[in-house]
Amino acid sequence: MTKQYFATKSLAHLLEEMRGDNRLRRVLGPVTLTSLGVGAVIGAGIFVATGEAAAHTAGPALMLSYVVAGLACIFAALCYAEFASMAPVAGSAYTYAYTTMGELFAWIIGWDLVLEYVVGSAAVANGWSGYFQVVLDGIGLHFPKALSSAALSYDAGTGVFTATGALFNLPAVLIVLAVTLVLVKGIQESAGINTIMVGVKVAAVLFVILVGAFYVNTANWTDNFAPFGWTGLSFFGHPVAGQTTASGEPLGMIAGAAIIFFAYIGFDSVSTHAEEAKNPQRDVPIGIIASLLICTVLYVAVVAVLTGMVPYNQIDPNAGVAKAFEARGLHAAKFIISAAGVAGITSVLLVMMLSAPRVLLAMARDGLVPRGFFGDVHPRFRTPWKSTLAVGAFVILLAGFLPINALLHLTNIGTLFAFVIVCAAVLIMRRTNPQAARPFRCPWVPLVPTLGILTCLMLMFSLPVANWWRLIVWLLLGLVIYFLYGQRHSLLGCELRKQSITR
Ligand code: ALA
Repeated sequence: MTKQYFATKSLAHLLEEMRGDNRLRRVLGPVTLTSLGVGAVIGAGIFVATGEAAAHTAGPALMLSYVVAGLACIFAALCYAEFASMAPVAGSAYTYAYTTMGELFAWIIGWDLVLEYVVGSAAVANGWSGYFQVVLDGIGLHFPKALSSAALSYDAGTGVFTATGALFNLPAVLIVLAVTLVLVKGIQESAGINTIMVGVKVAAVLFVILVGAFYVNTANWTDNFAPFGWTGLSFFGHPVAGQTTASGEPLGMIAGAAIIFFAYIGFDSVSTHAEEAKNPQRDVPIGIIASLLICTVLYVAVVAVLTGMVPYNQIDPNAGVAKAFEARGLHAAKFIISAAGVAGITSVLLVMMLSAPRVLLAMARDGLVPRGFFGDVHPRFRTPWKSTLAVGAFVILLAGFLPINALLHLTNIGTLFAFVIVCAAVLIMRRTNPQAARPFRCPWVPLVPTLGILTCLMLMFSLPVANWWRLIVWLLLGLVIYFLYGQRHSLLGCELRKQSITR
């Protein structure tokens, strides 16, 4: 039995599987992959979370927070890219873990990725709803109050939820429903829509940077660059470095990085499309690294403009970027940015909701979750339609009832945990499979994966402690399901059992 937990799928076996039928269509090239990457990355993080983090957690030092979070992602991205080029099949880090650390770790990471994508999609849908309502306000339309926000609000420090009096977030529910239906229909259409939206979004970000630059007052940076300090680390609720709020939420530049880390999430989803890439060995690493570099440069510039335009303590926490322009009397600019924000955030939602069913598809093919449901590829659309619908239903529930900050923090910790495992897996794989073909090699091993592990752990410890408990509960729930179902139905496990009987 223990043998099964650490049994790995061989790379040769993976590549063999890719030749089987029931596979996804190979339609994505390097530009589409980079565009999917940028589409997955620039969204609610920069448009929504930045305002809150600058005003309440880091001040203008949030510029450096973006650099720190970007660095953690670059280390992880280099590790992701090595694996993506070695095992270019759907499933991302789940598949990589199966070939390196064995079935049990693969399960843990797959389960964790589902958390990242499902909860992350709900956070993004929430951000979308906020910007959509700013646009509607601009043309004099309003959602009824009871249907315009989540039913619960959240104190990040204490981890306590309270009723807001609203019923549910209707715009968030409607956008998730629409995206789910588009995704059931197919990847090619989704990639096409995505390309247009990415163009709109990058244009909006450039607009913010170029127009906003004229309104920067450098005194806003120099007067108090790091009002909350430079750190913000705590260990299970005990501050290790820096201050916390009265309710225990870490504050400071590093704590800011842990929050806006969300803005970088998504580049890893490029690797979940490896199976749909025309030339995965070359194009997936290009897609991952190019999208990350583009986003880092844009983000730092946006934060510089935002914190230069408005003193940090006057930044609007809900729609900081758009409201900064309004504060300077640029009402048309505010409207343009909000409308582009809506389009941009939609493309993030498309890619995030595209990824969860693909991880489940990979797990179903290995027998770890029911194959008849999660592994069913639609005969005409060639999409994992049943799991797409199931994921859509979960995202609707979360997006309708929970507030953005709770969803955002939980997504961050889940993703950081996945990155830690991916970086560790590169180190292990270099030892156990040194001869395997690596069309893309992560540079400076073991330094880069080790720095990846350390920076991601640092960010995990800069998040409020409630997130650790939620992550642990989610992983324990996953283990129960693995022992009750996955372990018994795993194809690899069945093979091992057959072998031991014949012997
Ligand atoms: N990085 C994505 C966003 O900011 C998840 O919306």
